Amino acid sequence: KIEQGKHLEKKRLSRELHDGILGKLSGIRLNLFVLNKKKDSATIEKCLPYIKDLQEVEKEIRAMSHNLSEDVFSDQVNFNKVIHNLFQETGSFSNVHFSIHMDELIDWTRVSTINKIEIYRILQEGLNNIGKHAKANNVIVRMVQDENQIIIELIDDGRGMKTESKFKGIGLKNMKERANTIKGTLHIESQKNKGTSLQLLLPKKYIFESENS
Ligand SMILES: Nc1ncnc2c1ncn2[C@@H]1O[C@H](COP(=O)(O)OP(=O)(O)OP(=O)(O)O)[C@@H](O)[C@H]1O
Ligand SMILES: [Mg+2]
Repeated sequence: KIEQGKHLEKKRLSRELHDGILGKLSGIRLNLFVLNKKKDSATIEKCLPYIKDLQEVEKEIRAMSHNLSEDVFSDQVNFNKVIHNLFQETGSFSNVHFSIHMDELIDWTRVSTINKIEIYRILQEGLNNIGKHAKANNVIVRMVQDENQIIIELIDDGRGMKTESKFKGIGLKNMKERANTIKGTLHIESQKNKGTSLQLLLPKKYIFESENS
């Protein structure tokens, strides 16, 4: 039992490192790469916000090493805002156009912090992949609900991916595992030169904590 617990914890930490910290760092590196070509004051001005991003990474590493990664999230009560920040951060420097549609009526206070972290990480790796692979112009994020489930979609109009490359990298595999961890399912659809869409389905009966607990 203890060994199994350790094993799970190791896997969790590996995912946190890969999707959270590594992803953020390579995002920042990509954004700062422009300094290789241009060093005028406007460019430097544009790069300054990445100091703040580096501080965020520091905060995440600190939280992780204290095994308290939840703190990063409970700081910000409003999950809608956390998600908005994630996409604004990413969009501010790239040429990709982001649209965010979030159903304000989804009651995120009924979703545990641990589950919100998993959702956040899935979107974060989805975004990392769009930045690294998709060459997209437009990205749409949708979070809606129907009677039975929360539906989260991340859609890009990039170059799509080959079916056989599915789940070969660590990123997509982690996303699947994270979805399973929170009793959800992740569907990926992709068409060459049309784009890729991720759909995360979260049954309400699992994702919402019961009202009387
Ligand atoms: N949005 C996307 N658009 C186009 N191709 C994608 C997209 N997302 C993933 N891919 C393709 O699927 C492959 C697997 O993605 P995955 O995240 O698992 O690995 P990776 O990003 O290559 O590496 P890492 O292990 O660091 O995540 C990628 O190499 C890429 O070819
Ligand atoms: Mg990846």
